[in-house]
Amino acid sequence: MAQNSFYVTTPIYYVNAAPHLGHAYTTIAADVMARHHRQKGDDVFFLTGTDEHGEPVALAAEAAGVTPRELADKNAERFKALAPVLNATNDFFIRTSDPEHVRAVQEVLTKVKDNGYVELGVYEGWYCPRCADFKSEQEIIEGNKCPIHLIELDWEQEENYFFKLSKLQGRLEELYENHPDFVAPQSRRNEALSFIKSGLNDVSLTRGKLSWGVPVPWDEKHVFYVWFDALLNYYTALTYARPGEDLRGEFWPASYHLIAKDILKFHCVFWPALLMAADLPLPRRVFVHGYLLLEGHKMSKSLGNVLDPFEVIDKYGSDALRFYLLRDVSFGQDGSVSTADFEKRYDSELANDFGNLASRTIKMLIRYRDGAVPQVELDPAMHAEFEELNTKVSSLIGRAELTPALEEIWVRIRRLNAYVGDNEPWKLAKDPERAADLDRVLATLIEGVRVVTVLLHPWIPDRAGRLLHALGAPEDLHDTDPSLTIAGAQYGARVPRQVADIEPLFPKQQQPA
Ligand code: ME8
Ligand code: MG
Repeated sequence: MAQNSFYVTTPIYYVNAAPHLGHAYTTIAADVMARHHRQKGDDVFFLTGTDEHGEPVALAAEAAGVTPRELADKNAERFKALAPVLNATNDFFIRTSDPEHVRAVQEVLTKVKDNGYVELGVYEGWYCPRCADFKSEQEIIEGNKCPIHLIELDWEQEENYFFKLSKLQGRLEELYENHPDFVAPQSRRNEALSFIKSGLNDVSLTRGKLSWGVPVPWDEKHVFYVWFDALLNYYTALTYARPGEDLRGEFWPASYHLIAKDILKFHCVFWPALLMAADLPLPRRVFVHGYLLLEGHKMSKSLGNVLDPFEVIDKYGSDALRFYLLRDVSFGQDGSVSTADFEKRYDSELANDFGNLASRTIKMLIRYRDGAVPQVELDPAMHAEFEELNTKVSSLIGRAELTPALEEIWVRIRRLNAYVGDNEPWKLAKDPERAADLDRVLATLIEGVRVVTVLLHPWIPDRAGRLLHALGAPEDLHDTDPSLTIAGAQYGARVPRQVADIEPLFPKQQQPA
């Protein structure tokens, strides 16, 4: 049977500083999507990596008194190490300093030139070296500053090659007309489209002043402007991620690019234009999420207000962080994060709602039935509650609506908890005449627990795996294990037979005295 292919990417992160929670956020979201698609049986490729060229890195290296390559090598390692700490299952980690990437960038951009989209000209205007972005008048804030980094802009004047973006305005408008879901959420789509409609100017494709970048093959005094080099990573990675294989046939065009709104213009305007100019197929969707805010400001290394994901995970584990970020901040919108909110969610939802439900259900089965799940008819009321839950969750994740998907699941967790309260199995256990009722209640509960756990697996793969193991699944579950399929996450489809006791999944944290 032919499988569906699913290719999801994160931005490649600048190596000018260490990773922070903002980077972890996008990587986690992409991982949730990748894992869910594996559970669906799709053939998945998940890419993340680092953006190593250009001014953002060259300037940081200069300030640190090291070469750009030294800085890149050091920080790329830290980004690479972040993914496993997050329990993210990326299939490859691209570095734009990889020689294979460099060669492929040169090839594609030469094609763009051969197709008539490159022209020599003089650039004059304001530039933010941290964004590596030429700012238009509308983008500049008071004091002639960058709206993102709040630093003063540089006046740039240099001869360089231009990418003739203006020639593609009509085709970009058509793209947005014909594919209304190319960019989501809707508000971001509108933002991108109105940027396009306001009139596109040609943009710098190369830089003459800088040497830290991919050399321009037709004029070695120049390097490519870092954004064109960087955007192409999504495409070039497929040419060398698996030695000896060309994955483009299967995975290009990408299914989903996940980004935050800071880089919307590049992904929603420049990127499709570049691909059009190179005669390459366009990605299917870009999802633009919001900012994680700390004390009201965008968490960012340049502003210094960062929360260290390594520390949070050290204390609570990666599942708790993965869950919190996609639960507390609506994916697609800005949202504040704090240690206090994190602890609240952890205690009330992971420890109480979910962890306790699982523990008490298992404990009752062990106490009253020696761990053997009665193979009896399940409560029809609960059947109705779970009707098509798996397809609902799946279609939400398919549109990157990760927070609503989680809420769908949580509604059922609350429902299961209410079912415990309504049926009071401990009272049924005291009355031998009600043994059949107890059988039904226990079987109904454990099957409900199984279904929500399979569906929660992408967010909390570690603890979900442990719990499913206690319900009879193999240990160290891989996303593609038969016990994890989305089709099998239908209520009543795979009622566990035997359960084993389990440590608390999300133990309440002891506050230091
Ligand atoms: O822009 N909230 O790299 P970058 C949410 N190299 N997401 C955040 C965030 C926050 N406070 N801070 C960072 C670059 N992110 C380029 C990208 S892609 C071809 C090149 C996440 O290190 C979010 O995904 O500045 C954002 O778009 C990205 O990190 C920016 O990372
Ligand atoms: Mg940035």
